Amino acid sequence: MTSLTIARPDDWHLHLRDGAMMRAVLPHTAQHFARAIIMPNLVPPVVRGDQARAYRDRILAALPGGMAFEPLMTLYLTEDTDPEDVAAAHASGLIKAVKLYPAGATTNSASGVANFDNVRATLDRMAEIGLPLCVHGEVTDADIDIFDREAVFIDRVLDPIRRATPGLRVVMEHITTSNAVEYARAQDDSLGATITTHHLVINRNHILAGGIKPHYYCLPVAKREEHRLALRAAATSGEVRFFLGTDSAPHTDANKLLPCGCAGCFTAPNTMAILAQVFEQDAALDRLEAFASRNGPAFYRLPVNSDTITLTKSAPNYPVQIDTEDGPVTVFDPGFDLEWSVC
Ligand code: NCD
Ligand code: ZN
Repeated sequence: MTSLTIARPDDWHLHLRDGAMMRAVLPHTAQHFARAIIMPNLVPPVVRGDQARAYRDRILAALPGGMAFEPLMTLYLTEDTDPEDVAAAHASGLIKAVKLYPAGATTNSASGVANFDNVRATLDRMAEIGLPLCVHGEVTDADIDIFDREAVFIDRVLDPIRRATPGLRVVMEHITTSNAVEYARAQDDSLGATITTHHLVINRNHILAGGIKPHYYCLPVAKREEHRLALRAAATSGEVRFFLGTDSAPHTDANKLLPCGCAGCFTAPNTMAILAQVFEQDAALDRLEAFASRNGPAFYRLPVNSDTITLTKSAPNYPVQIDTEDGPVTVFDPGFDLEWSVC
């Protein structure tokens, strides 16, 4: 196959940041994606409806003329979140999900949840109104090995929350383990799971063997090869519960290449090209549309985009680095020559 046309994809987990960084990265997403679930981990975080509305307005104002893109806003869950503010933001159509960061789990998560009893009322209200909870699924206990944090989270936090909150719709975000794939497969349709582009491509050796590669460092950190293969099988299966959330998370090179560098891979510009190649390698090109364009809307109860994009076998047409007013940002390098591009 040399050309593939699919319904325009959406990104169900995206970091756009704010200000100059947002202006630089937004066109790369809007070029290929119709909509994206916008992560609320700004500094300070987007915790209330009025803040989400203002952030959405800034995103739309930063969109270059002629580009169509719909930011699907989220609120950052804290122990002080007011369930009624969440319900009002949902009722007005402003927000499509609430984001749970365990306190300290990742970039800008200091305001996240430490005591889950303190968010019970919000979770109950969300279950009532059908508003999904997007979960960063890692425990943060210092005594849990970083490579085990997702699997332990499922047992100790995720499963108990779901049992305690019947009807709560949950997205396991950026899953990185076969444990998460198996857990997701065993649940009913109140559970969805997003998979990133980079976790389909790299395992932990890519980060650590033969010299440390800060641009491959992201959270949750990439795991062993067997886990990557489980993610590949899930993504390319076409199963409705698995869908694309790139977790494209731009940081300047200056902030990546530090003694304590930031976590995040910037994949917005080349995600669709990489995915086409990954799905082709796994003889699953006919299921790319399910993963990137159909399963996400099904979970979020939104229509599939009516327009399309076409991928062709042709030389890549994305930059290896982009310039921002804050400094250069390196685009994720899949480690193989890309053969597909979006035209
Ligand atoms: C994200 C970021 O930089 O905001 N980083 C990452 O490695 N994925 C935060 C997150 O989604 O965990
Ligand atoms: Zn993220």
